[in-house]
Amino acid sequence: MSLKITSVVRVDFEIISYKTINSTNLYAYDLGKLGKRNKIVVSEIQTHGKGRLDRSWFSNKGGLYFSVLMDIKDVGKLEKINFLGSLSVVETLKEFSDKKFEIKWPNDVLFENKKICGILTELNVSSGYLVLGIGLNINNTIDSEIKEIGTSLKEIENLEFNVDLILNKFIEIFTKNLKIDDELLLERYKKYSKTMFKNVNLIILEKTVTGKVVDISYNGIHINTGNYVEVFNAGDCIHLR
Ligand code: BTN
Repeated sequence: MSLKITSVVRVDFEIISYKTINSTNLYAYDLGKLGKRNKIVVSEIQTHGKGRLDRSWFSNKGGLYFSVLMDIKDVGKLEKINFLGSLSVVETLKEFSDKKFEIKWPNDVLFENKKICGILTELNVSSGYLVLGIGLNINNTIDSEIKEIGTSLKEIENLEFNVDLILNKFIEIFTKNLKIDDELLLERYKKYSKTMFKNVNLIILEKTVTGKVVDISYNGIHINTGNYVEVFNAGDCIHLR
């Protein structure tokens, strides 16, 4: 009889809070360089919030802006991190609202096609750490320029929320999700995926790939482009009708 040995990840996070910071991701990344791990940097406002693809992330008061600094080895399979982050956000939101939240690949969280949460993961592979940056619109007003594409929990529920409670719930759920099996994590992620079986345009640098999403795995998004299925692990995904 063989004994199956599973390693159990136990991570306790220290929370470092600011009223204003340039970017929680930048700060956490610098802490990582100093050898720090298992920190959550949170700020009420960010003056230079960073988004994906070199965009900026508007970070006014009332939102939840934080970054999780971790050792890569505590995540296990590195490709899991975006799945872990977005699934944990959806599961957290479900604790405060019974509305339907969905994930647009790789990690945007949407309510009725409007973005409520964005995630920016930054890696320092040579030093062995990662920063999972999460911007969640809670009580903050959405800039008029992005009203059509963005929303907040307050706008959805017509209620003010306690941002600290939401962060604590996220940490509880994220810590639990760190321990679950890779396959189960993926299965749970797919349950909330809005991208699965959608026709999409995937923009990768200058190139656009069009097709139907037939699967999502840790290798990326599997798109049937007509004659064959191609797998992409990055890009800006646009849902088509
Ligand atoms: C996106 O473009 O969708 C990702 C946005 C990520 C924003 C968060 S807010 C907290 C953390 N700090 C940053 O500067 N960015 C991330």
